[in-house]
Amino acid sequence: MTQPKWFTDGFPHIWLPYSQMKTALPPLAAKSTQGCTITLEDGRELVDGIASWWTACHGYNHPHVSQAIKDQVDVMPHVMFGGLNHEPALKLAKRLSDMLPGDLNRVFYVDSGSVSVEVAMKMSIQYWINKGQKGRSKFVSFKDGYHGDTLGCMSIADPEEGMHHVFNDVLFDQFVVDVPRSQNQLQEFDAFLAKHKGEIAAVITEPLVQGAGGMKMFSPDVLKNMRETARKHDILFIVDEIFTGFGRTGTMFAIDQADIVPDIICLSKALSAGMLPLACAVARDHIFEAFLSDSFDDALQHGPTYMANPLACAAANASLDLFDQEPRLEQVQHINRKLRNALTPMQSIKGVRDIRILGAIGVVQVWDIKDSNWLKERFIEEGVWLRPFRDIIYMTPAFTISDDELDKLTGAMARVLTQWSKL
Ligand SMILES: Cc1ncc(COP(=O)(O)O)c(C=O)c1O
Repeated sequence: MTQPKWFTDGFPHIWLPYSQMKTALPPLAAKSTQGCTITLEDGRELVDGIASWWTACHGYNHPHVSQAIKDQVDVMPHVMFGGLNHEPALKLAKRLSDMLPGDLNRVFYVDSGSVSVEVAMKMSIQYWINKGQKGRSKFVSFKDGYHGDTLGCMSIADPEEGMHHVFNDVLFDQFVVDVPRSQNQLQEFDAFLAKHKGEIAAVITEPLVQGAGGMKMFSPDVLKNMRETARKHDILFIVDEIFTGFGRTGTMFAIDQADIVPDIICLSKALSAGMLPLACAVARDHIFEAFLSDSFDDALQHGPTYMANPLACAAANASLDLFDQEPRLEQVQHINRKLRNALTPMQSIKGVRDIRILGAIGVVQVWDIKDSNWLKERFIEEGVWLRPFRDIIYMTPAFTISDDELDKLTGAMARVLTQWSKL
């Protein structure tokens, strides 16, 4: 394919994410998006099965969200959040607090998921400092976990399986343990927390699905047990709902299925409907109150330049309007049924190891992906945008995807995997 001039001129100056630049397939030149379709510069159209890393929950260019951004851009595209507040941010903070369970009432805005996790970690460490409990600065996280790419986030990812093992020598020392799925593992987890509680600031987990770690799933009971065990030992509990939040697992938040209230929750991705970067860490009242005193040293020491960007907050408010006005969770249930019907038979394809489906997440895990570039290219030939990684081929479509589009995705997956199994 001939590439447009902007591509040939600009590509030599680009460094791609998570890519061996020597061997990576050249990226496709995207021209525009609409609904669940990505149109390329050469005119090809791809049905999107990923919703841009799980963000575009209402599909691309939803007119209600686009209009909210357009309206905001002429009024105030950005203003610093230090000393100034604005309606989009405060309205959104109130709405999020109303939606979240318990007293998760204090919203701290940042501009990416990773940074919201960093903030949750800093809140937890400083919480114990402010309470006068010294030495509680470590985190307990879980194997197969992923929480972002910054140094603090990398330190709580799975050190073996994670994408960051090259940095292992320089990362902060943390406790990474098994997800307590069985009774034995739960007892071990309990004993571990009992032994180390004097060193631990918080337990942190992705609830129900460990996304970038390979879409590993666990039940609401496991999540509830984690939460209760942390509480039993007076350890803070952070959930990272950056992937799972806003309907992806079938409920507005994954924690709703376990009926738990964490001390801090991190939100991003679908928060702003895939339109603009926005994230936040939302804390319970007792966390916030531990930072109140007459000393500036007790205040939370964080404040990114673009925090609470009004355009991003306007997009998030418009996205929440859509969750209020349109049947998003019913659409997720519908997608779930269709994924079950279409993906379950793929279990019989040679080389397939496991099929996992939750909410609007469909995962086919294989024993050995062999050549992921071959799969990527075949999916593009089929007119779908699916990106296998590690040992999985997965889909996380927009909740507004049509039956025809979803059939196109699952049909392509079945055809390509059947062909792949014979390689
Ligand atoms: C569960 C989870 N936490 C954190 C992050 C990091 O978010 P960001 O890429 O916006 O920094 C991701 C991104 O995939 C994620 O899935």
